[in-house]
Amino acid sequence: MDKITLKGITKAYGKNPPVIENLNLDIKDGSFTVLLGPSGCGKSTVLRMIAGLEKTTEGDVLIDGVSVRDVEPGDRNIAMVFQNYALYPTMTVRENIEFGLKNMKVPKEERKARISEIAEMVGLTEYLDRKPANLSGGQRQRVALARAIVKKPAVFLMDEPLSNLDAKLRTQIRTDLIELHQKLKTTFVYVTHDQIEAMSMGTDIVLLDRGKIQQHDTPDQLYANPANVFTARFIGSPPMNILPAEAADNKFEENIVKIGFRPEKAHLINADQTGDANSIVIDGEVVAREMLGDQVLYKLRTPYGNISVKDFGDSQFTYGSHKVAIAIKDTACFDAQEKLRGFGLEKE
Ligand SMILES: Nc1ncnc2c1ncn2[C@@H]1O[C@H](COP(=O)(O)OP(=O)(O)O)[C@@H](O)[C@H]1O
Ligand SMILES: [Mg+2]
Repeated sequence: MDKITLKGITKAYGKNPPVIENLNLDIKDGSFTVLLGPSGCGKSTVLRMIAGLEKTTEGDVLIDGVSVRDVEPGDRNIAMVFQNYALYPTMTVRENIEFGLKNMKVPKEERKARISEIAEMVGLTEYLDRKPANLSGGQRQRVALARAIVKKPAVFLMDEPLSNLDAKLRTQIRTDLIELHQKLKTTFVYVTHDQIEAMSMGTDIVLLDRGKIQQHDTPDQLYANPANVFTARFIGSPPMNILPAEAADNKFEENIVKIGFRPEKAHLINADQTGDANSIVIDGEVVAREMLGDQVLYKLRTPYGNISVKDFGDSQFTYGSHKVAIAIKDTACFDAQEKLRGFGLEKE
């Protein structure tokens, strides 16, 4: 069942050209849906229209199948957490979390019970009597989350809530959010420009570019079957290598203009070796070698552009001339419109 439906949404700010044009999107009930895309592509605008903080120029937002056109943000049963969450500095953690509940006229006993439950869930039990100034950045962000969740909203919206935190804390809270979603089973809609965040937390990802949906899929599908070159280049670290079809001696069908392969599907061989019959081979030069622990990442310069290759941690290739071999079956084939036609589409 769909929790949120965006129907033919267009959004223009003032007299400017629309930033979102005729967008249609179904967000599944209970999903952890991530709106992903480069900065400025319209993610926050979409989220704010769901929340009711921004009016749609055209189209309709439905929650549980009902238009919320005339429903005020406060009455949409939605909670939202932003990047720049503002806690009340003079209130304790408990008072910060309690504030919204008081506004909702939740009775005192129930307020107490809900706060204990939430505090336990997000690991704030020991900090309930502290003021925000005496908390770490991560703890403050947890208070912001708790304050939103405690209202038991039907939909939980988050706009880049982790971007002000350091890398270690981000990974930690990422895991917390996955756990929280598992516990609550509430619909989460989460905005980020960070594909790693999206891939690690989302059950569903909506990848946007310039206000248009490029692909709406599970993380697995997005990785394994990118719909087009944009998606292939956006997902993965480093992302898929994309080269002109000439790089593969035009082994692929006539309509294939670009080919792609994931760094971990490519292998380095020595310059004097030849690849097997089921591979394509590209000459290149190793210009960087990065030891990542369990893997080594090589960057190669080739006549067709740079290529990233991931190899196992004990891989010992040196700088200089080498070859990259990729199994034909692992090679993504894109047409002139940059759409994926399939993998390993060899000429007859
Ligand atoms: N209040 C506003 N007035 C005018 N333009 C805006 C406003 N908010 C956002 N925009 C523009 O709309 C586009 C999408 O912005 P936004 O939704 O914030 O993107 P994202 O969240 O993906 O970075 C950008 O070009 C931005 O400059
Ligand atoms: Mg934004």
